[in-house]
Amino acid sequence: MPENLSTFDFNDENSNVSDNPRFEKIFEERLSRRQWLGHAAAGAALGLTSHAGLAAASNAPVKVRVTAKTWPPIVELKFNSVAKSLEDKVQVATGYRYQVLYALGDPLDSQTPDFKNDGSDTGFERRAGDHHDGMEWFGLDAMGRPSTRSVNRGVLAVNHEATTDEKLTSFFIHPTGGQPSLPRLASEVDKEVALHGLSVVEILTDSSIWRYDRNSLLNRRVTPLSPAQLMGPARGSAHVITRYSPDGLNSRGTLNNCGAGKTPWGTYLSGEENWTGYFFRDGQDDERRGATSPEVIALRRYGRPAGAASRHGWETAGVQESYSRWNINASASAPQDDYRNEINTFGYIVEMDPYHPQTSIRKRTALGRMAHENVCFARPLAGQPLVAFMGDDSRNEYIYKFVSEARWDPKDAEPVDRLAIGDKYLDRGTLHVARFNPDGTGDWIELSLNNPRVANSALFPFKTAADIAVYTRIAADLVQATKMDRPEWGGISPRTGELYITLTNNSSRNASNVDAANPRAYTDFKNDRAQKGNVNGHIVRIGHRRPTDTQFSWDIYLFGSEALADAAQINLSNLSDENDFSSPDGLVFSPATGICWIGTDDSAYADKTNCMLLAAIPGRVGDGSSHTLNYSENTTEKSVKAHIGKPATSLSVKRFLVGPRDCEITGCCETPDGKALFINIQHPGEATPMAAVLDPSRYTSQWPSNAGYGAGSRPRSATIVITKEDGGVIGS
Ligand code: FEO
Ligand code: CA
Ligand code: CA
Ligand code: CA
Repeated sequence: MPENLSTFDFNDENSNVSDNPRFEKIFEERLSRRQWLGHAAAGAALGLTSHAGLAAASNAPVKVRVTAKTWPPIVELKFNSVAKSLEDKVQVATGYRYQVLYALGDPLDSQTPDFKNDGSDTGFERRAGDHHDGMEWFGLDAMGRPSTRSVNRGVLAVNHEATTDEKLTSFFIHPTGGQPSLPRLASEVDKEVALHGLSVVEILTDSSIWRYDRNSLLNRRVTPLSPAQLMGPARGSAHVITRYSPDGLNSRGTLNNCGAGKTPWGTYLSGEENWTGYFFRDGQDDERRGATSPEVIALRRYGRPAGAASRHGWETAGVQESYSRWNINASASAPQDDYRNEINTFGYIVEMDPYHPQTSIRKRTALGRMAHENVCFARPLAGQPLVAFMGDDSRNEYIYKFVSEARWDPKDAEPVDRLAIGDKYLDRGTLHVARFNPDGTGDWIELSLNNPRVANSALFPFKTAADIAVYTRIAADLVQATKMDRPEWGGISPRTGELYITLTNNSSRNASNVDAANPRAYTDFKNDRAQKGNVNGHIVRIGHRRPTDTQFSWDIYLFGSEALADAAQINLSNLSDENDFSSPDGLVFSPATGICWIGTDDSAYADKTNCMLLAAIPGRVGDGSSHTLNYSENTTEKSVKAHIGKPATSLSVKRFLVGPRDCEITGCCETPDGKALFINIQHPGEATPMAAVLDPSRYTSQWPSNAGYGAGSRPRSATIVITKEDGGVIGS
């Protein structure tokens, strides 16, 4: 257990101690310079979406990604940038307004009482959960049927990632902060568990005011206790046998749901992120399992060494299995008699049908097990495999790609049984992991038994597809994937088809381990405190001829930085006061406008500004230039050549919104006409000390009650909707 929970960042875990080399050591495997030049030329052609250019660049017949029929996109951001701010309110660009739509504790039916927001509320199985995160819009027509065109009625599917904690307890939802010691009280744990998971809430507008429908039959909660089906390669494998499911077919619930995604067939995807910290192992558990056994190797690699305390101590609340499941000691003689494998039932992409509250969630284990963020799909092409991209958000983890075995049939876009289509595309396929070469090329390396580095490893016995699905990180270590600065969300530009992935920051990047794709390590001061590493994060960009290609070209689209930072080593994208930012996290391209929305989850720049939402109009891979970064630290003298996108201007990147104190901005989605933008304000007031729980004057935020929403003054995570005052398309 970290000593000070109030300042520990559960996103900042680092379990990758593999000696997976960096690419300076693997020059022999990279493409020749000559090959790269040809590839870059192809990438440039792709950026122009030119049929002729693409055909010429490829030997094989190419199904060209044509731009959407609704194009052309917005080419100019027609609003004035919002100033950085430390005020405790949501500030949105002039000409726009926002409403609070759906906050922590809001009841999802009329039987559940109004939220009092004083810590006495219960029944969170029928209320909005906490820490609203990834989110997607799913339209409904006037009859309440699924609609991809509706713009005034729909459901929002929302991730509820975590709770605001100190010393074990989620203090704002208990009357006086909860009991911060072991054993935990069952009544407190029951509330904390139910605050996690997913929700579905119906929303509608009469064209001026948006509201949520408290009585909708589509309103739903999924919690860590809801039934779940394990699907894909891990289904029925020895890795997921538990006392709850001796056949390994099912599991309980979902946890730490962070980034989100939407499938081409209209379901919701949710990434389980920082689940590892919820499980307890005692100091003898390595011995019970065998100190050198594969399961012990895997537990360490996934951040659960023997003796690991759990984040909330839920395992101590009683003898019932709903509590004891969080204790993963191998305590019985066989796995079907204990919960040693419970941890292997988390860490997946979860699929939910937001239109069918009666269907259970399905865990898509073929997409690998990691600290998942979102999933974004390359535009489906008839007759081609589906391709999805994902990040693993811990320090020095990797970027992944999934290629489906099934080939896309456009008829599957509007199916009767949506989850059956999920079975078709997401349960069989091949994972790949990204290696970024210093010359601006990259490789997607297959993680399967076809790859001898995986199948013949002396370090870990990969024998089945289930082994790779459950121990994905270990397979990736074996193939010299590039350790990244905490990969968060990815998005696909509708203009170019290129992939953008945020790398939020990395406190363990330093002069000796910088590389071309993670080229910065520096010191920044927050007040008087020195912060080191890649303090402010960056956004990497990947271009392919076709998304199924195993080679790509890349550059770094944008570096987070303070405007005043050194332009030679830190502020490499030329950010100014109008667009400087830190720790990019949520990243979503608007299908309606092509705007790239970037939300921040930052504490590094929090002495100067609260977190924000930026709007950007990016170009394409290769539109900038290379720049050499020089390091001289102790005995290390090193140069790294960074491939940097065209510098930002005050026209191409603008700050659209600044949130209240201590929040993260996340969950960006919109109506299909681009006229209503939904975002989540996550954990305002998070830095409040638990001792202040009864003293609102000491809360670091009182949002949204100070904006006129709801009872009490404890801060609440919430969904807001932003519209343009003239009713127009946002950003135009
Ligand atoms: Fe939940 Fe990586 O942020
Ligand atoms: Ca600073
Ligand atoms: Ca995130
Ligand atoms: Ca984050």
